[in-house]
Amino acid sequence: MKKNVEKIFKGLKGEISIPSDKSISHRAVILSSLAKGKSIIKNFSKGQDPLSTLQVCKNLGIETEFNDDLIITSTGKFSAPATELDCGNSGTTMRFMAGVLAGQNFNSILTGDESLSKRPMKRVIEPLTLMGAEIVSDNFRAPLNILGKELHCIDYTSKLASAQVKSCILLAGLSCEGKTTFTEPYTSRDHTERMLKFMCANISTCGNTTTIQKSELKPQTIEICGDISSAAYFITAGLIVPNSEIILKNVGLNLTRTGIIEIVKKMCGNIEILDLRSISGEEVGDIKISYSQLKACTIEGEIIPKLIDELPIIAVLATQAEGTTIVKDAQDLRNKESDRIKAIVTELKKIGADIEETQDGFIINGKTELQGGCEVKTYHDHRLAMSLYVAGLICKNPICINGFEWVNISFPEFEKLCNDLLS
Ligand code: S3P
Repeated sequence: MKKNVEKIFKGLKGEISIPSDKSISHRAVILSSLAKGKSIIKNFSKGQDPLSTLQVCKNLGIETEFNDDLIITSTGKFSAPATELDCGNSGTTMRFMAGVLAGQNFNSILTGDESLSKRPMKRVIEPLTLMGAEIVSDNFRAPLNILGKELHCIDYTSKLASAQVKSCILLAGLSCEGKTTFTEPYTSRDHTERMLKFMCANISTCGNTTTIQKSELKPQTIEICGDISSAAYFITAGLIVPNSEIILKNVGLNLTRTGIIEIVKKMCGNIEILDLRSISGEEVGDIKISYSQLKACTIEGEIIPKLIDELPIIAVLATQAEGTTIVKDAQDLRNKESDRIKAIVTELKKIGADIEETQDGFIINGKTELQGGCEVKTYHDHRLAMSLYVAGLICKNPICINGFEWVNISFPEFEKLCNDLLS
């Protein structure tokens, strides 16, 4: 689907509620499926990725029902699936479910779409194999043929700061005798640990090391907050579209996800947190943003996992900052739904940005008036689609985004909410 986006002149104004967090939605379904009894999930995401996780759990025998909330009824155990388990475009679904399924007493096959079938799974297959798992694949790519085995605990140190790898191993460790320990180089998002605690699992964290023991999860009512990764598009639009002043309500502010807020502050953007509170074990607040004169900065090291999904939209932001913005240590961005380094650099260049690709990030010189006046593409990647849409709001000439429908992977409400801030 092609979408035309034009420059806006009057600024974004008003307030919107940010829809449900995709990361937390995946975890809520999987952990509720593992808890014996009835769980209630409030504000479950309407994105296709969490819906893939829900469908996978249904195919594993979990009963689900939608009224206003999502109700999950489970015996606390999965049963052998009658079909292959389609994870769609969702790396989170595949990596998390690999951890859960490796230790079952049945076999299963995880499949994905074209993009997911190219993404690296060695990062989870390797540690799971050390736990005694048997996973057959072609060169560590999906489909993953999982031969259920009894697993044993491990003490694993990961080279990657990846919440997907960490969660996979914690989920596998949840049913192992003994202590499973996972250490990561920098802290990645900790929603899995928080939700496991919220559901009474035996889990503890010390620095970058998390330890889990065999536990029975207790069903809960889980209320999911708004997704800061979705809010990031509006944070950026509010900062770069002249005359904007907006409030984003109900945004998750877990400190392992708020790298974008730290960077906006470093860039001298006008950003304020209001009404900080806690919901189902996660910090939540409202964010006030207004148009700002931005300064460039360097983004590297331990902040990277705290804003990994926001780097494409941060590239757009940096085109409007005075000076040279450097992003380093983000090589894993090449392994996301697309090679996000190559994709964002190529497309932003087309519309007039001064941006260069490096092996582990990019360098942007600003401030540049973006020219637009051309077609850009999304590489079947939701984050590219939304980043380019926001860039289009300040391009001198309209742009046409080819492949805009990919926004539905995480944020089907995106365009409507954008229009709400324009009217
Ligand atoms: C996610 C973790 C991140 C992120 C992905 C969602 C999660 O991946 O990019 O969109 O929900 O745990 P990595 O942890 O592999 O970097």
